[in-house]
Amino acid sequence: MPLTRAPFYLTTPIYYVNDVPHIGHSYTTVAADVLARYQRLKGSDVFFLTGTDEHGQKIQRTAHAKDETPQELVDRMVDRFKDLWQHLQISNDDFIRTTETRHVKRVQSIFQRLYEKDDIYLGEYEGWYCVPCESFWTAGQLVGNKCPECQRTVERLKEKNYFFRLSKYRDMILKHIDSHPEFVQPEARRNELWNRLRADVEDISVSRQALAWGIQVPMDPGHTIYVWIDALLNYITALGYDDEMERFKRYWPARVHLIGKEILWFHGAVWPAVLMALDVPLPQRIFAHGWWTIEGQKISKSLGNVIDPLRITELYGVDAYRYFILKEVPFGLDGNFSYSALVNRINSDLGNDLGNLLLRTLTMIEKYFGGLIPSPQGPGDEDKTLIQEALDLETKIEKEMEAFQFSHVLEAIWGFINLSNRYIEESKPWVLAKEDRPKLSIKLYNLAEALRLISIYIFPFMPQTSQEIQSQLGISPEDTLQKRERIWGMVKPSSRINKGKPLFPRIEMSPQPA
Ligand code: ME8
Repeated sequence: MPLTRAPFYLTTPIYYVNDVPHIGHSYTTVAADVLARYQRLKGSDVFFLTGTDEHGQKIQRTAHAKDETPQELVDRMVDRFKDLWQHLQISNDDFIRTTETRHVKRVQSIFQRLYEKDDIYLGEYEGWYCVPCESFWTAGQLVGNKCPECQRTVERLKEKNYFFRLSKYRDMILKHIDSHPEFVQPEARRNELWNRLRADVEDISVSRQALAWGIQVPMDPGHTIYVWIDALLNYITALGYDDEMERFKRYWPARVHLIGKEILWFHGAVWPAVLMALDVPLPQRIFAHGWWTIEGQKISKSLGNVIDPLRITELYGVDAYRYFILKEVPFGLDGNFSYSALVNRINSDLGNDLGNLLLRTLTMIEKYFGGLIPSPQGPGDEDKTLIQEALDLETKIEKEMEAFQFSHVLEAIWGFINLSNRYIEESKPWVLAKEDRPKLSIKLYNLAEALRLISIYIFPFMPQTSQEIQSQLGISPEDTLQKRERIWGMVKPSSRINKGKPLFPRIEMSPQPA
């Protein structure tokens, strides 16, 4: 691979392992995977990081309640995440656990350095703490005496803490947001962050006294480092910062941190301030997406609606799930998961539109050309729209991918799939078979070629389906993915197709699975 490939570093949040992963976690991770696969197709040198956040009071309490040590709990739970990512075809390049030595030693050395620079100082904290969010709150920030973020009960804290001088960096962060409109997206989220930064920024606690399950404060072993500082640093410790700098130099700054909207304060205010204190450039973008609800309700253990993505995909397939979560809701907005919406999409978009296009095309190539791709004699005027659309699609996709508008990318691809289906209707191959064989070859060749391009365009979203289409077309996957340039006519005439089972057979709606 040439060294000129542009580096593209992207991350998901590292997830708490106090509970099993659910659809929300899989949403961010699948979105990141789509971006990573897309960038690899474009030739970028991608580094895609995900991982788990394993310290803090929430984990310690959960372990205690389950009669386990925190280490036992995190060692058991991390596999649930790793297994799910493997099952969902997530192509991450690294997986960081905050209990790993590589992370722990780097966090300690960074903390020590910030202390020596006087960006961290010893003080006393008196206020409120939300354990589920692992967040400190002042009395004024509480809403009806509850956590303003998750509306749960908060606990009173009075302890000696190390503080980080967040207030010192406030104006610099505001300036950065003003001069880099793409830094925080979507715009509504950026405005919220900006308003909060303007209104209220105090120095923040960055250690906990007497909380055993955390990374020890290097200069004061009776304290542990606040779990959010520990966690945010994963984005650079995983790259080797700051004792093995090669990878860090290659990939930092991150092209994007993908996160959910509830953790934007930590990523858009605390994280930039820490990086500024370290003299490290800021990530290029932070994209805070919306929240999924399930059948209209917030995902929550107490509501009993935490659906395991493994279960959904066992019933409906991995690619259908990946397609659905990115198609159903514009990235950035909140969305509602429902089984009926999923089944409708599978039956209409995947089965009817895409599956039928492949089935009809291959059936006709079998029937009229004995299973060999026909040799076209050069397209006529009536074929030019299809060809032009196929080639223009790449530009449309690129523009929407740059904006992380996955649902728009899929709309554009499906626009082309439907155009191809209309092309069949309009050219009536069954009539041409009797009246005009040369024209029939052109039509069926073009349809095979359209399907080849479709298989490449859907690859980031639906890798297995992409490969299945290529295998049924009788083309080799590696070849095709490398030759992604805007070229029409890569399917080889006279090559043999390999018609298989229909994609996405129709699902009859059943009652909601247990
Ligand atoms: O916050 N809808 O971890 P976490 C959409 N460890 N996305 C959702 C979601 C939902 N209902 N629920 C969760 C933490 N997510 C910290 C992060 S990063 C340095 C530390 C996704 O396990 C979304 O990406 O609570 C959200 O930000 C993340 O999971 C929170 O995961």
